[in-house]
Amino acid sequence: MRLLVTGGAGFIGSNFIRFYLREHPEDSIINLDKLTYAGNLENLKDIEGDARYQFIHGDIADFNVVDFLLKDGVDAVINFAAESHVDRSINDPSPFLRTNIAGTQILLESSRRNKIPRFIQVSTDEVYGSLEPIGLFTERSALRPNSPYAASKASADLLVRSYFKTYNLPAIITRCSNNYGPYQFPEKLIPLFVTNALSDEPVTIYGDGLNIRDWLYVDDHCRAIDTVLKKGKAGEIYNIGGNTEKTNLEITDIILNILNKPQSLKKFVKDRQGHDRRYAIDSTKIKMELGWEPKYKFEEAIQKTIQWYIDNREWWERIKSGEYRLSNEQRVQSNE
Ligand code: NAD
Ligand code: DAU
Repeated sequence: MRLLVTGGAGFIGSNFIRFYLREHPEDSIINLDKLTYAGNLENLKDIEGDARYQFIHGDIADFNVVDFLLKDGVDAVINFAAESHVDRSINDPSPFLRTNIAGTQILLESSRRNKIPRFIQVSTDEVYGSLEPIGLFTERSALRPNSPYAASKASADLLVRSYFKTYNLPAIITRCSNNYGPYQFPEKLIPLFVTNALSDEPVTIYGDGLNIRDWLYVDDHCRAIDTVLKKGKAGEIYNIGGNTEKTNLEITDIILNILNKPQSLKKFVKDRQGHDRRYAIDSTKIKMELGWEPKYKFEEAIQKTIQWYIDNREWWERIKSGEYRLSNEQRVQSNE
């Protein structure tokens, strides 16, 4: 198979590319990425020279680039590309609308014209809004997005649905819970708190810290997408979750304990606007119909993740100091 992966220089996309090429030695991947602040080619350094892998610097909202790549013959499009951070969407929603909605529509339109046999939209449990205090999100739960990020992802999901219903584009939507693992940009809860604690800097807990997320190790998400790519049914939605509900305070304590750092690093700050209280996923459908379930236990995978940030200090220090951004901008300019 020849895949077009979008947003492959980000956290989940880069983990997916590495996972997929390892699992499928005969296949190849084109990675289309705009290299926003979250895109980092250092995430893929180890496979840069692999003949099965090709990087294209470009925007999913640019029809000409997308159509040029899809005309060349691609067996599946997997759309990871997005503006992905809720806090940034609260500060400025517009880039979220452009990439997450308009960009997805351009990928869909070019996929339709080029008769692409498989389209996977990597969506999120945030489209369902907040669950309080009991129950689980199923694929039939109503869409009640609460942040501009979640609203943009829900809008993209509706466009995907419409391309399936109207044009028979063989598209599938996956909705996953919170991921953690190597190469996650240090603005998200786990990598931010791990790297702050490693630098003896405060960890900023929003509100009372009792908001709940359902955590999944990134490799399990990658395997779920691979499973959906191979066995999923066109027009369907598949929820993907970790069965691991934790409050933010529990996550904070786990990190501080593993790193042997003091409780005094905890700093309670103003709550996020419109902060969703709880997410929890029912993954029965993907388990029963496609045979996927998480392999990693949270207790082991969080240790492994924290160890990765300890061992790869240079990776996150270059991001946090702004050094990566600068060298990347120079590299991009010299390539243009
Ligand atoms: P990320 O922010 O780490 O990476 C996003 C990538 O997309 C970056 O490489 C960026 O450069 C690229 N990108 C952004 N705009 C682009 C554009 N216009 N054209 C081409 N590339 C562009 O995000 P992530 O955490 O890896 O999330 C990947 C996908 O998974 C997103 O669609 C997100 O909504 C979804 N998701 C994330 C999580 C999570 O916990 N992180 C959970 C469920 C679903
Ligand atoms: O549920 C899937 C979603 O998970 C993905 O769609 C998003 O792309 C991804 O960013 C993530 O969204 P969250 O808002 O849940 O993740 P974040 O890491 O930003 O925050 C997790 C929780 O931690 C949330 O309740 C807010 C809280 N938090 C976060 C930060 C950055 C803090 O208390 N302090 C912080 O400094």
